Order: sequence, then C-alpha cells, then structure tokens
Amino acid sequence: MTKPSTGQAVSFHIEDGIGFLTIDQPPVNAISLAVIAALGPALDAFEASDARGLVVQAAGRTFVAGGDITMFDDPAFTPAPLNALLDRIEASNRPVVAALHGTTLGGGLEIAMACHHRIADPATRLGLPEITLGLIPGSLGTQRLPRLVGLEKAAGMILGGKPISAGDAQSIGLIDAIAEDPSAAAIAAIDTLTGTEPRRTRVQVIPDLDRAEAILAPLRDVAASTPWHPAKAAAIEALSTGATDGYDAGEATETRLFLDLVKTPASRAQRHIFFAERAARRISDLPGDTPLRRVETIGILGAGTMGAGIAMAFANAGFTVTLVDANPEALDRGLTRISQDYERLAARGRLSADDADRITARISGAESIAALADVDMVVEAVFEDMDLKCRVAAELGAICKPGAILATNTSTLDVDRIAQASGRPEAVIGTHFFSPAQIMRLLEVVRARDTAPDVLATVMSVASRIRKTAVVTGVCYGFIGNRMAEVYMRESEAMQMESATPGQIDGVIEDPAWLGMAMGPSRMLDMAGVDVGARTVIEWIASGDGPQDPAYRALCRAMFDSGAHGQKTGHGYYRYEGRTALPNDDTHALAAQLARQHGITSRDHDAQEIFERLLYPMVNEAALILDEGIAQRASDIDVVWTAGYGFPAWRGGPLFMADEIGADAIVAAMHRHGATLGNADGRWTPAPLLSRLAREGGRFSDL
Ligand code: COA
Ligand code: NAD
Repeated sequence: MTKPSTGQAVSFHIEDGIGFLTIDQPPVNAISLAVIAALGPALDAFEASDARGLVVQAAGRTFVAGGDITMFDDPAFTPAPLNALLDRIEASNRPVVAALHGTTLGGGLEIAMACHHRIADPATRLGLPEITLGLIPGSLGTQRLPRLVGLEKAAGMILGGKPISAGDAQSIGLIDAIAEDPSAAAIAAIDTLTGTEPRRTRVQVIPDLDRAEAILAPLRDVAASTPWHPAKAAAIEALSTGATDGYDAGEATETRLFLDLVKTPASRAQRHIFFAERAARRISDLPGDTPLRRVETIGILGAGTMGAGIAMAFANAGFTVTLVDANPEALDRGLTRISQDYERLAARGRLSADDADRITARISGAESIAALADVDMVVEAVFEDMDLKCRVAAELGAICKPGAILATNTSTLDVDRIAQASGRPEAVIGTHFFSPAQIMRLLEVVRARDTAPDVLATVMSVASRIRKTAVVTGVCYGFIGNRMAEVYMRESEAMQMESATPGQIDGVIEDPAWLGMAMGPSRMLDMAGVDVGARTVIEWIASGDGPQDPAYRALCRAMFDSGAHGQKTGHGYYRYEGRTALPNDDTHALAAQLARQHGITSRDHDAQEIFERLLYPMVNEAALILDEGIAQRASDIDVVWTAGYGFPAWRGGPLFMADEIGADAIVAAMHRHGATLGNADGRWTPAPLLSRLAREGGRFSDL
C-alpha cells in the first residue's frame, strides 16, 4: 500500500471533524530533525482544534521506519524532544489512533505505542531493530513495549531485533486491529473510542511483572558473556529499571544508556555497515535510470558444489532454473543434493512441504548446453580451468539468445579473457558467489573491461532479488575478498613456519578482545579445502604473476601434496575428530621442516604481533585495491568482509577498524615488521595510499 505524498515533513488537516497528522519524509519516513521540528506545530494545531480525535499516519510506501540514523552522529543529539512529543500524543484527552503500513520500525513503532489505539494493514511488519545497530530503542520502546506485550515478549523483540508480522503483533497485543485501509479503520475507531478514557500505554501494568526477575536474570547472564555487544546488557537494564522502579526511572535509564551506546565503537561500526551496504548498490558512473534487461529464466552450467547452490539461490527467489552438467552422474548428484536440501528444510519446519515442492519444481536438469539457448541469464560454474572456461564461453556465445547475460562464477580467473572468448564480451560479467551459495550473503559482481552498463545494472538488480549483498569489483587476482584473504593466509602460514600453531593464531583473531572473526585463517581454509586454496596459489605462482619467493605459502602447497586437505580428509592445519579441531602434530612438524629448508628461524609471537600481522597486510592490500580502482569505495571493502568472510559487523570491517587504529600506527608497525622479518616481495612496504593517509592523518572513510 502506498499513500499519497503531502510534500511537507509533517502536516495536519481536519476532515469530517477528525484530525490527520501525516508524516512525509521519503523514502522511509525516518524521523529526522526536520520531522521532530514539524511534529510540534502539527500537535499544536490538533490541540487547538475541535477535532474529535487524531489519526497518526505516514505517506508513501511505509509508516515511519525508525529514527534517522544519520542524526545519531550529531554529538548534540538527544531523544528528549521526541520523547516529549510522544508524551503529548499520549496525554491527549481525545482518541489518537495510529494507522500503520509498511515497515513500522524503531521510532515508528515508538510513535505508534504512544497512540491510544493501533491499526495496521495486513502486510505491516513491526519491530525494534536498534540492537542490530548496537543501540537500544531511544524513545521509550523499552518502557512502552513491555507494558503492551509483557516483559518476556518485549525482551525477545528488543534483544532479537527481528520485526514481526501484523498478525503476530495483534496476537500479542501490540496492535488492536488489522484492516486493508488502516486510516479508514482509524476513523471508525475514533468514533467508537470517543467518550471513553484514553488507554495510555505508560500507565498500563506490565502483564508479567511478577516474573520480571525470572525473565531477565538468564538474559542478563547471556548478555554478560558478550561484553563486546554492550547494547544487550543495556536493553536489559532499561527494561529492568522500568519494571522495578517505574516508567519515569525507566525513561531516564533508557536515555542515559542510549546516549552512551551511540558513542561506542561497536554502534558506530554497525551504523557504518548499514550505510555501507546501501552505498555498495550505487555505481558512480552508472546512471540511476540505466534500463534493465528482463531476467526471469536462469541457466546454470555445472551442477557441482557451486552450481547446485546457485540454482537454489535463484529458485528460492522465484526464478525458473535450468541446471546443466555435461557429466550425467554429476547432474544427478547435483539435483539429488538440491531435493534433499529442500526435504531437510521441510522436515525441520523451516519451509512448508508445499513450498519445498514448489521451489524444487522450479529447477530442471539437462545434459546439453543447448538447453540454455533461451534463458535470460547463464551462470557458468564449471571447473576452475581457463581453457575449459573459454571453451564453454565460446559455446554459450554461439547458442544463447541475443541479449542474454553470460555470468561466470570464477573465483580467480581473468574475466576479460573469458569475455573475449565468448565473442560477445559486453554480455559477460563475473558473479562470484560464496559457498554455500544458497546461504552466504555476499556476491562479488565482477565488472569486466567490456561489460555493458545495462548488464551490470541488471545483475545488481538480480542480486538484490535473490537477496544477496552485492559489491562491484574490477578484474584482478582474487577480486576484493580473496585478494585480501591471500595476504592474511600468507602471514598465518609464515607465522606457522616460525613455530606458531594454528590454534594460537586463530585463537587471537577469533578472540573478540582482538577482533572476533568467526573463523581464523587455518580453520577457514580447512573448511573450504586446503586443496582448493593450494591449487589457486600454485597456479598463480606458476603463471609468473604470483610471488616467486620459494618460501611463499610453502606450507599449504606441501599440505596439498601430502593429502592434508582439511576437514574433508580429516586432517589439515588441524586434525579432526568428528567436527572437533585438534592440534595436528604432522602439520606442525611439516612447518618446522619447511622452515629449516627455507632458513626461517623460530620465534615467539605475542597476541599483538599475531593481530598486526593478520590485519595490517589486509589493510595495505585494500589500499592497493582502492588505488587501482578495483573497489569503488573503502566501505565496499568493509561490506565484502562483513558479508562474506565472518568479519564482525560490530568491528565495521577492516578499513573501519584501520581508521580506528590510525593509518600512522599501521604504517609504523609495517616498518617494524619489515625490519624484523625481512621485506620479501615488498610485502611490508606500505601502499602509497596508506602512506598518504598516515602522513596527512587521513581516514579511509573520508576518501
Ligand atoms: N535512517 C536514515 N536513513 C534510512 C533509514 C533510517 N532509519 N532507514 C532507511 N534509510 C535510507 C537508506 O539508507 C536508503 O538510502 P539510500 O537510498 O540513499 O541508500 C533508503 O532509506 C532506503 O532504504 P533501503 O534500506 O534501501 O530500503 P528497503 O526498502 O530495502 O528497506 C527498511 C527499508 C526500512 C526495511 C530498511 O531501510 C531498514 O531496515 N531501515 C532501518 C530501520 C531501523 O533500524 N530503524 C531503527 C533506527 S534506530
Ligand atoms: P565442482 O568441481 O564441484 O563442479 C564443477 C562441475 O562442472 C562438475 O559437476 C562438472 O561435471 C561440471 N562441468 C565441467 N565441465 C563442464 C562442461 N563443459 N559443461 C557442463 N558442466 C561441466 O566445482 P565448484 O566448486 O562448484 O566450482 C565451480 C566454479 O565456482 C569454479 O570456477 C570455482 O572456482 C568457483 N567457486 C568455487 C567456490 C567453492 O567454494 N567451491 C567458491 C566460489 C567460486
């Protein structure tokens, strides 16, 4: 549902004796300072009028989707003015009814809860997502929500941050009614409510108050175990104060904690990622009105690990998929894997059996590439072999219909060469999915030299339809993510040859006190397959483009030869008992033997050194990537790492973290490590951009 625009941030008018307060701040009606400033006069007008009641509504595609996140950066920001306006709404002696649609989130729900009655259209989603920004609700969400739905449900919504449907909101008492036209229903409600005592949320008794401590104590324990996420403990404190000491004390606590949280690095980082993910969709030299090609049918070439996952990603979003594999057994394996995956999801209740059947039916198999002649877009996911990729690109170029988009899922190969081989390079683009492709959020969209603007624009739009977080990258070895991961792996293995253990290294980088990566480098490579990583490195070195230092990633290359391929073989950097990773003495001995062979001496590594040697080369590589124009902007690089590599959002990504540390400190450490460790291949020479930021006191976020 979309409501017509009024052209004013907030307007008030009276129709048939009823007042209408309309918020109109496109695109999502976020409560900006302008909205706050305009709410006062609108309420004045209502209070001075003889309207029988007030309907609070918003224009456009949604009711208010939250406070304007940008205003939290202003050190002078305080929730007090909005809170006072909400108190005025609630204090009205005439009925005030909220008419809700779209996404009623954060400050939007807080406005609604200050009203006496709430009616939503059936598709409305309601929630308090502030926790996902490292915050708590700032305008009485922690006080009014428990008074409407109880402490237990309020804590669940505030700590989880996930919006709920209108149906669920009605069943827990958050809204009073659902109507196709909530504004019309609000008028009727005002007539019913007129003359009755307004139901003010602040004076309601919290329904499960007697169980307050039993509800909050276990949540407090959980929050205490994640001190790097201070918003959780803060939310519980605000709920608890409001429950035990009353609404006013709860309000004071909420305000104090909100203002503390806004300044924390964790919240600043999460807000940075919120805007970074949205900025990543914008392509500077691509006009917003670039026409899109029609894409409804998808062909996938190669039904292996990636092909099957990519097929599911598209089918989940409603696309019709033809999955082709030249090897009938591989095709059968791929299709079986897909149907088993959906059966498992249905068995676990994650999907209804009907939906599982419907989605599975969208995917059909074929053995001949000819089956792709009429599809709108092909994603090629055959073996990572340049000759093969060029051969199939030529075949696709010959058989696909004019206008079809030809995407390659290569992780390392030169997309420009593949594009040339197709005979229609303007139609070729890279779509670098991450494994498992139906689950991982990141999609690197590789813009090749000749990729047509409408092909790029269409693939970005398709990415959002399949709910991927897309980041554009230029063509280079490893694109953005794996190119940075390469130097991260390099240092991890170099430290192992100097006698550090994988557990010691992973332990530091996985420790939230240092960084909090979901998985350290050795654990990650063991999971992805040491063979997969090593093959890439071996080819890169053999091509002459990779480093020619014989000690370069000697460990993973030797592990590849010895069959220590990670989890799949039961031993890699670690030894596996089931899923448990244990120290692997064989790999440790192999590292020691390689160290002797390459004249590397053993040394001790403290946590600070491990942290610097893993993070700083990545920051340096990112600076090169920016200088070369491979990434459009620094924040895109942060999105790649937070969406695709388990870098915690509350750290804001490697470049947000670099800004917090300071380019000067990073450059000084790089010089120090170069002096101690030697500067093979110039690996400790700061990139020109990083040096400049260090010299000028600049930040990646200001580039
Ligand atoms: N404050 C400031 N800007 C906001 C905003 C907010 N609360 N919510 C959305 N925007 C901006 C986005 O940055 C984007 O701007 P852009 O077009 O310049 O990139 C624009 O509004 C549209 O948002 P987008 O997320 O692209 O639209 P969507 O339709 O995919 O999703 C929402 C809409 C409301 C679900 C989503 O924007 C959202 O979750 N917003 C944040 C809600 C929130 O956390 N509220 C509590 C704040 S304390
Ligand atoms: P895979 O070995 O699991 O599957 C490749 C499939 O391609 C096989 O089933 C094979 O039979 C099929 N195939 C080979 N030649 C073919 C042809 N001429 N016509 C049709 N089918 C053919 O490989 P994968 O891991 O799925 O990788 C596929 C691509 O995705 C590679 O380019 C790889 O670099 C890339 N990639 C892999 C990962 C990963 O984690 N596995 C991640 C990102 C990208």
